Amino acid sequence: MLNPDQNTWTAVDQYIEQHLIPENPILQKALDHTAERGFPGHLHVAPNQGAFLAMLIQMNQCKRILELGTFAAYSTIYMAQALAEDGYILTIEGRDTHIALAQENINTSGYSQIIDARLGRAMDVLRELPTDTPPFDFIFIDADKQSYPEYLELCLSFSHSGTIIVMDNVIRAAEIINPDNQKPSITGLRELFQLLDHHPKLATCTALQTVGCKGYDGFAIAIVK
Ligand code: DHB
Ligand code: MG
Repeated sequence: MLNPDQNTWTAVDQYIEQHLIPENPILQKALDHTAERGFPGHLHVAPNQGAFLAMLIQMNQCKRILELGTFAAYSTIYMAQALAEDGYILTIEGRDTHIALAQENINTSGYSQIIDARLGRAMDVLRELPTDTPPFDFIFIDADKQSYPEYLELCLSFSHSGTIIVMDNVIRAAEIINPDNQKPSITGLRELFQLLDHHPKLATCTALQTVGCKGYDGFAIAIVK
């Protein structure tokens, strides 16, 4: 048996990608441009995880998507490819350097008609939406980890019964169960788990550990009641 280490996880991700993930020149262009601009490559979702998000969107025929944490808009473009032409994605990024890169990638992707990328704090951007803004069908929380509890509550007020909420990077190589780790990003995730536990507005929730080219992490998924 191979050692279950990072090299193996990366090799298996490559194997999965070669067999199951079709070549995607639009997404590849976004990755290449992100690297050219000198941004780190480990922050965007892995291709097989992007495909999983796209499948959740297609399975549930979601039309309106909210994303917190755009970074290079890789997951944004992945999700846009899963949407029909009348779909819509609002993606919010707090860092101006990142939103500029994201907008470049969105413009090149050809999906700028359905992707609305905004700079700002999620709280501020969402509060400024018109009062008749319809709720979102699918929400991907992938921004600063310490604010996930706040983001979850915020997202719930822009949800309907059946909205799917996916939260990225909630395991952090098991640091969430390491009592010596009191970094705000980790304590924020512990607070998130407490909030998810029997939340009155959630019908079901689970979390899955993942390994792959981006290391050992995981995501949580909830369905709004
Ligand atoms: C980090 C953040 C992410 O959203 C991710 O998917 C991977 C890593 C990070 O901050 O290290
Ligand atoms: Mg992430």
